[in-house]
Amino acid sequence: MQFQLLIVTMVLHFSTAEHYKTKPSFVKTCLKSDPEFDECSRDAVQQLFVALGPGLPEIDMPPLDPLKIPKIRILQGEGPVNVNAALDDVTVTGFGKTEVLISQVDGKTYNFYTKVRVPKIRIEGTYDLKGKILLIPLVGRGNCWFEPTNMTIDIVSDVKLYEKDDFVFFNVTAAHVKYNIGGLKLRMNNLFDGIDSLEDSTNAYLNANWRPVSESLRPILSKTIEDILITFLQQLFHNLPANFMIGDVKYSSKKGDKKV
Ligand SMILES: *[C@@H]1O[C@H](CO)[C@@H](O)[C@H](O)[C@H]1NC(C)=O
Ligand SMILES: *[C@@H]1O[C@H](CO)[C@@H](O)[C@H](O)[C@H]1NC(C)=O
Repeated sequence: MQFQLLIVTMVLHFSTAEHYKTKPSFVKTCLKSDPEFDECSRDAVQQLFVALGPGLPEIDMPPLDPLKIPKIRILQGEGPVNVNAALDDVTVTGFGKTEVLISQVDGKTYNFYTKVRVPKIRIEGTYDLKGKILLIPLVGRGNCWFEPTNMTIDIVSDVKLYEKDDFVFFNVTAAHVKYNIGGLKLRMNNLFDGIDSLEDSTNAYLNANWRPVSESLRPILSKTIEDILITFLQQLFHNLPANFMIGDVKYSSKKGDKKV
């Protein structure tokens, strides 16, 4: 395998908020000691997604649906995909319909494993692209949209526990994502600066070959999803005490004194 340089930068800043001090009504508490923990936790995470849809202004969480991302920059050298791209004023709709399939929490590390399905996502924005996808040189700038359907996403979130104001919190330190999609439609307007015949035939070709196109974009998409997720998860869990979610969470501080 060839060495690939992949850089994704994303602008998505949230401000620092006052964390929850009492359990909000949308949070369902589960006990790790409960043999039915996984079912409880799946329902709890589903309720979280429902609450996150319109956003939680009290902890400065912007809406998840529609999700607004001011800027995404992608730089990938070498290989079948060779892209220097920018996406601006991005609006992502569809995450409000996320269905939580599995939610598990490791009994020792508390790392989360979550599997979700999103029936339909639409990503719209302004693109500026220079590169190659499936060996086709692509140049252009203009409006674009992408519509992946039946997306299933496996997420492993690494967490560390820490204490603040006598509460224990999850510090989400990394998110690892694997996804599958059942279909992809896309349109990039003004490809080749609007040479119509070339623009239409290229869009038609990319749609007809959506499977290899999406495979070639996998590293870029995975990294982008991971970056968005980690920003969201950090903002949420720095403000939502861990024991509101897991009632019997065990945390031992460095001094060695046990806290429950
Ligand atoms: C969605 O994808 C999953 C596998 O990734 C598949 O089992 C399921 O049947 C698909 N659903 C639809 C509606 O296409
Ligand atoms: C969260 O983890 C990161 C990486 O390990 C660390 O730099 C940061 O200080 C931690 N934040 C808190 C509040 O513990």
